[in-house]
Amino acid sequence: MDKKLEPVLSLNGSIEPPADKSISQRAAIFSLLHDGVSEVKNYSPAEDPQSTLRCIQDLGAKVTEDGGVLFIEGTGRNGIQAPDDDLDCGNSGTAMRLLSGVITGAGVTARLCGDSSLTSRTMTRIIEPLEQMGAHILARNSAYAPLMISRLDPLKPMNFELPIPSAQLKSCMLLAGLFGETPTRVIESIPSRDHTERLLRLKIEEEGDKRIIHASREDQIPNQNYTIPGDFSAAAFWMVAGCLLPQSEIRLENTGMNPTRNALLHLLQQMGASFVLENERTEGAEPVADIVVRTSDLRAINVPRNMMPNCIDELPILAVAMVFAEGVSVISGAEELRHKETDRIMAIAEMLRSIGANFKEMEDGLEIYGNPDFTFEGATFKSFHDHRIAMASAVLALKGESPSTILDAECAAVSYPNFWEHLEVLS
Ligand code: S3P
Repeated sequence: MDKKLEPVLSLNGSIEPPADKSISQRAAIFSLLHDGVSEVKNYSPAEDPQSTLRCIQDLGAKVTEDGGVLFIEGTGRNGIQAPDDDLDCGNSGTAMRLLSGVITGAGVTARLCGDSSLTSRTMTRIIEPLEQMGAHILARNSAYAPLMISRLDPLKPMNFELPIPSAQLKSCMLLAGLFGETPTRVIESIPSRDHTERLLRLKIEEEGDKRIIHASREDQIPNQNYTIPGDFSAAAFWMVAGCLLPQSEIRLENTGMNPTRNALLHLLQQMGASFVLENERTEGAEPVADIVVRTSDLRAINVPRNMMPNCIDELPILAVAMVFAEGVSVISGAEELRHKETDRIMAIAEMLRSIGANFKEMEDGLEIYGNPDFTFEGATFKSFHDHRIAMASAVLALKGESPSTILDAECAAVSYPNFWEHLEVLS
């Protein structure tokens, strides 16, 4: 589907972003591991969490729905079943990487596959350490899905120092570790999203700047009875749109405010954005608030390297804000962006090129020469079938002087199925 968008003068109103994609997927997987029934409220209808939900059923969980609540009967760690067919992770790196940890730990044999984007993303980062824990993994060209995982040798718990600040890798290793007789210790020096350790209540030691997270068979898997908060990464599109469009005020209800996820809020504040947080509270193990954003004049910023994992999914929309921020903004140390659903540095560069913005592409990021008075005629944006590029392009399109088109815009549904309806509500 190609989406034609008219420019808009301002955005106003209140919306609730879809349930958090990362937390939904974890709620499903941890419910599978829980020996009993979990009642999960506000599970995300987006494509990635739905792929994960199908996969846990293939591994033996029983899922029913009543009045918007999912009842997930887990198998417990001892009851996980080898699936009859491939586990189809769709577009989801989180599903593939976290489930690979579960399958290794459980010692069942399974084949994980995905769409053309997922099967072109490297899985080496999980293959090598899972093999050290005793898994036998057959991968296409030794690096790509489909992954055929089995384990004949006993599980070998390990101390694992994260070579990259990736929450998917961290969670994969912790999930495998949950099946071990002795603890697996995952050592993290640059913090990444901490939903796994929060929701599983894992033991954490601090050693200087390092966090050492422990997981073993001794850890009880709690039920997942909570309401999943709105996705901060989905709210991010409206946070930037609200800043950029004149006379705008947008209220983003029930938005997750996990401090390992919300760097964009602090970065935009440093750029001059005005936000008010209301109704601050905790849902399950996660902080939640309503965010009110208003039109703001923005100035350029350098994004510090150690903040990257905390805003990695928001960099496409942050780049849009930078186009209209006074001065030179720099994103560097973001090479991980090249390994997302698409090469997002290339995709952001292409998006900025489509409007004639002034920028430089670097191997590990972008330098953007911003101008609050920048104008452009409508453009045709390629989404590269990447949900976050489609939605960032849509926000950019609203600032054009004439209509724009987003190609293959349906991919927004990977994380945000009602994005286009919310745009209409706010316009
Ligand atoms: C995620 C972790 C991040 C993020 C992705 C979701 C997760 O990936 O980009 O959208 O749910 O753990 P990496 O672990 O590859 O950084």
